[in-house]
Amino acid sequence: MRIPLVVGNWKMHGTPALIERAVDAYGGSPRPGAAEIVICPPFVFLAELAARLSALGVKVGAQNLSEHDEGAYTGEVAGRMLSAVGCRYVLVGHSERRALMGETDRQVADKFAAAQRADLTPILCVGESHPERQAGATFAVIGRQLQAVVERVGVGAFADAAIAYEPVWAIGSGLAASPAQAQEVMQWIRARLGAHGAQTRILYGGSVKAANVGELLAQADIDGVLVGGASLDADEFAKIGKLADRT
Ligand code: PGA
Repeated sequence: MRIPLVVGNWKMHGTPALIERAVDAYGGSPRPGAAEIVICPPFVFLAELAARLSALGVKVGAQNLSEHDEGAYTGEVAGRMLSAVGCRYVLVGHSERRALMGETDRQVADKFAAAQRADLTPILCVGESHPERQAGATFAVIGRQLQAVVERVGVGAFADAAIAYEPVWAIGSGLAASPAQAQEVMQWIRARLGAHGAQTRILYGGSVKAANVGELLAQADIDGVLVGGASLDADEFAKIGKLADRT
C-alpha cells in the first residue's frame, strides 16, 4: 500500500512568519491512514522547521543538494548536512534548477545518488515543456530523464525514492494537467520502473490546490502531489494534506 505523500515546495519564499503559520496549521496528532506531509523550505529554515514540525508528524525536505559529499564547493550543501538537521527528503532535478541553473540529466542522477548515500529520500522531478508536449516528445523527454538515473543507480534504487511528474507548462501557470493527462504519463512512468514500480510513490506537480487535489488523487497512479504556490498558504496546504488522507 502506497501512503499518500504531499510535499510543499516553498521555492525561494519564506519568512519567520510563514514558519509560525506552518507550525500552527498542524495541531493534534497524526491519524492512522493520514497522508505523509513534507515541507521543503529554503535551506536556512530547515533546521528550525524540522525541530518544530517533527512532534506534529510533519517531515521536512530540502529543495536541492550537492552531488558531492564534502569538499571545496563554496555555497553548496551536502546531503549529510541535511540529514544531520532532521531533513528526510530532497527534491532532485526540479525543472527550475534544470532550466535556470543548467542542471543536466547526468548531474541530476549524481544528486539522486548523493541523496541516497546520505540517507535522504530523493524526489526526482521530471516533466516536459510545452513545446516538447506539442511536438509529441513527452514520453521521450521523461524517458531520457529517468534513464539517466537508472543508468547511474539502477532501477532498484527507486524502491527508496519518489518521482514527481511536473509538466513544466503546468508549474505556476494556474493551469494544472487534467487528471487524465497526468494519469497517462504517470502510468507510463510506473510501467518503466517494472517490478519496482509497485512501491515507488509517483506525485503530480503543477498548479495543485485544494480545489483540484481530489480529482488528481482519484487517479490510479497518482500517489501524492508536489505543491508550489499553494504551499505558501499554510492553511491551504494543510487542507490539501487532509484531502489526501486515505479514507
Ligand atoms: P506550483 O509549483 O504548484 O506553483 O505550480 C509546483 C512546483 O514547481 O513544484
